[in-house]
Amino acid sequence: MRGYYIAGNWKMHKTVGEAVDLAGELVKRLARSGHRVMIAPPFTSLQAVGEKVRGTNILLGAQNMASAELGAHTGQISCLMLKDVGVSVVILGHSECRLLDGETNALINAKVKLALLHGLEVILCVGETLAEREAGLVEKIVVEQVEEGLRGVAPDRVGTVTIAYEPVWAIGTGKNATPQDAEAVHAVIRSTVARLYGAKAGEEMLIQYGGSVKPDNAAGLMAMKNIDGALVGGAALSADSFCAIVEFDAYQRAAG
Ligand code: PGA
Repeated sequence: MRGYYIAGNWKMHKTVGEAVDLAGELVKRLARSGHRVMIAPPFTSLQAVGEKVRGTNILLGAQNMASAELGAHTGQISCLMLKDVGVSVVILGHSECRLLDGETNALINAKVKLALLHGLEVILCVGETLAEREAGLVEKIVVEQVEEGLRGVAPDRVGTVTIAYEPVWAIGTGKNATPQDAEAVHAVIRSTVARLYGAKAGEEMLIQYGGSVKPDNAAGLMAMKNIDGALVGGAALSADSFCAIVEFDAYQRAAG
């Protein structure tokens, strides 16, 4: 039984005060959640949010990190600094970093290995653009991103990696993949991990879906065999919608 893992990526939203308020609300409302929960506020709020979630069932995540440990890297944040403020998970390879900041598979792979070396868990994001989908390249792109993202990751470390499948055309657009479309790609990702690391690692790998996940579509996605959670952007910015996604099973029962 893999269990569910719901993560909130707050992107470039919230002042420190707003972030602390939202985190405090989530701590109260999700205290009894049976699912794994992570929130990734912007760097400026990590320390304050870290103090709020310390000792609770909510994990603190960062949205990215540098590929170097320390040194002359203006504007970058090191994994050591993240650990210092209580971060235990880092999101790497988000499509906004790939597309807007030019992050390559090789750079993302360097970050994945560095994060794992320092004991951070990783959420490795993969996903195709609309043009790639229309050109029939979904599988090729996603398999390549998984293979290259995990290149050189030791078998005893891969268990602390979660993969998030986020079709780029579904992020922040309100268009989400149907559960069946997402499931098909998740199955490909799982078999890729099994090919690289063996059947057990493939079976145990948590694979989140991301891209316009909302309270109303979460349960349908989570019902799929190979979908083990969600990486949530816009709907993670309010306690009501994020809690409804984390508690997707109760939300669906209440909605009838
Ligand atoms: P969205 O973002 O839920 O706003 O589509 C998801 C993500 O980018 O992680």
